[in-house]
Amino acid sequence: MVLATAPPDLAIRRGTPAEAALAVDILAEASAWAATVAGEVWTAAELDVGAFAAAATRGELVLGLAGARPVAIMLLQTEDRLYWPEMAPGSALYVHKVAVRREVAARGWLTRLLDYAQRDARDRGIGFLRLDTMPRPKLRAMYERHGFRVLDEPPPIVNGRPMLRLEKPLGRTA
Ligand SMILES: CC(C)(COP(=O)(O)OP(=O)(O)OC[C@H]1O[C@@H](n2cnc3c(N)ncnc32)[C@H](O)[C@@H]1OP(=O)(O)O)[C@@H](O)C(=O)NCCC(=O)NCCS
Repeated sequence: MVLATAPPDLAIRRGTPAEAALAVDILAEASAWAATVAGEVWTAAELDVGAFAAAATRGELVLGLAGARPVAIMLLQTEDRLYWPEMAPGSALYVHKVAVRREVAARGWLTRLLDYAQRDARDRGIGFLRLDTMPRPKLRAMYERHGFRVLDEPPPIVNGRPMLRLEKPLGRTA
């Protein structure tokens, strides 16, 4: 009898400062891939290992693992003064730097990461997820499928680039 291969053990957890370089490697791979389909996502300056280690120390780095291998990443932050300067700190969890290794693309990691962010927000009594992204139809559609709505039309220009701001209300947090 041929046994089916057991599905890999999937997990999502906070990343440590020692895992910052791994996180940056996933982001660099994803950005390089995106450059071939629609344009770069992050510059090298935005992928600084020291900055990600500091984020991990603040508890903001989140990794998705297939078995022992990190394959997905996001940052969860409680304020975003660049894209959401008018919002009070702590009024939302801000999702940044979402990426997956191409070998696990289209396998539900975005849903898993956003579910994790949602649970984390609810556990902290926070009522919204917010994120910014480039005004690309596939990115917009992807987040709208996950319950986010676009807030400003046309998208505001931040640092010379148009950026879509999207928000997902989480309902009652009690
Ligand atoms: C965003 C991401 C985490 C979603 O992962 P996923 O749910 O596994 O989905 P996929 O990678 O299969 O992408 C879904 C679709 O969006 C498209 N897409 C993904 N990132 C894109 C980008 N930066 N620009 C334009 N299109 C993009 C894919 O080409 C794919 O299109 P298809 O359905 O026609 O094949 C992953 O695509 C990724 O790492 N992208 C690069 C980094 C990125 O853009 N992050 C989001 C910044 S806001």
